[in-house]
Amino acid sequence: MLNYTHDIPTVIHFGKGQISRLDESLRPYGKRVLLAYGGGSIKKIGLYDEVMEILNKGGYIVTELAGIEPNPRIESVEKGVELCKQNGVDVILAVGGGSTIDCAKAIAAGVYWEGDDLWEMVTSKHGTLKALPLVDILTLSATGSEYDGGGVISNMKTNQKIGKSFTFPAVSICDPTYTFSVSKYQTAAGSADIMSHILENYFSRTDDSDLADGISETVLKSVIRNLPIALKEPDNYSARANLMADSSIACSGIPAYGKQGTGWSCHAMEHQLSAYYDITHGVGLAILTPRWMRYILRKDPSCTGRFVRFARNVWGLDGEDEQALAMAGIDALEAFFTESGIPMTLTALGIGTEHFEDMANQANGGGRLSNAYVSLTCEDVVAIFHDCL
Ligand code: NZQ
Ligand code: ZN
Repeated sequence: MLNYTHDIPTVIHFGKGQISRLDESLRPYGKRVLLAYGGGSIKKIGLYDEVMEILNKGGYIVTELAGIEPNPRIESVEKGVELCKQNGVDVILAVGGGSTIDCAKAIAAGVYWEGDDLWEMVTSKHGTLKALPLVDILTLSATGSEYDGGGVISNMKTNQKIGKSFTFPAVSICDPTYTFSVSKYQTAAGSADIMSHILENYFSRTDDSDLADGISETVLKSVIRNLPIALKEPDNYSARANLMADSSIACSGIPAYGKQGTGWSCHAMEHQLSAYYDITHGVGLAILTPRWMRYILRKDPSCTGRFVRFARNVWGLDGEDEQALAMAGIDALEAFFTESGIPMTLTALGIGTEHFEDMANQANGGGRLSNAYVSLTCEDVVAIFHDCL
């Protein structure tokens, strides 16, 4: 087990009715609020009205940034920074899924970014930045953006989608009832994202981090149990609540405690698919993950033991033949995604081979996947994309 340092400065208010904490969450930071949200789902579910009533009652001065896109664009970040500067905003309130929260994080940091080019902030190397305080209300269980410092911003002109550390939310209000309205497609995609955040750490060379592996297996089993319920009964509180709690833990760094870095290969590859084709992040991950697993198992049989553990502890499978068991665990994961209604090939998304080389070069920029759990070259990445057709 390796050394680790961990610091999450975010307060989570979890559960039904926790919006009652909104006023006390914003009040310490000031009265001028940038209310950031997406394409309108928060209006459809009545959450916008609920938020505005609290803000009006509390005497807040509200500036709105509406229309933040899934896979949020640099242009939305620029617009938000301008609004914050023009209106002397004290605190940002992001209401929505990971895209809205990510965009709000980049805006919060962008306000203090010296220099005119905010894309440079996204592309340059840095840790967490000086930023405006950020409070969020989460409406989709997926990314874990409510409990980490990262944000992923896209530039469709350059076909780049880049994840960076910006700032942690000061407070995240996580009320599972706001996710009752999430479509089957986004519910399944979000759950695949949660699972991928766990799997990207679980498949590591460190085998003796019992706490991290135990938490990881518990989160995976929770998603396997609760996703089918949420798909069948969208307003099942228990299922939605478990998925929301899973979301926050999965990307928090806790499942990586004491473990060797892994390169997050599937995320590196998926961000290229989103950058070129604007696809839903979790769908891309669901397509890639089983193919990546089969590929690395073939390439490096020394990881068979980890896959056997995955098959046994997560899927409850058994058998004498280790190779067959390892493959059965991967098959179970792929079948689970298929049964959840996720289109499981790139072809089904209208994606062909045309950009495979470019995407592989970007995913492996600077040879960064050479340090992955199983080292990958650009040729390996192209081969994995082919396996996904
Ligand atoms: O825009 P609105 O109208 O709100 O609709 C959204 C959007 O169309 C809708 N939605 C959200 N909450 C809803 C709802 N629809 C009905 N009822 C609700 N309660 O769902 C659609 C997708 O929303 P989005 O925010 O894009 O989804 P998600 O939370 O999956 O975020 C995806 C983004 O986060 C990044 C991804 O790459 C992608 O850009 N990630 C962020 C991470 C982080 N910050 O740590 C890590 C992840 O690995 C990921 O890369
Ligand atoms: Zn993800």
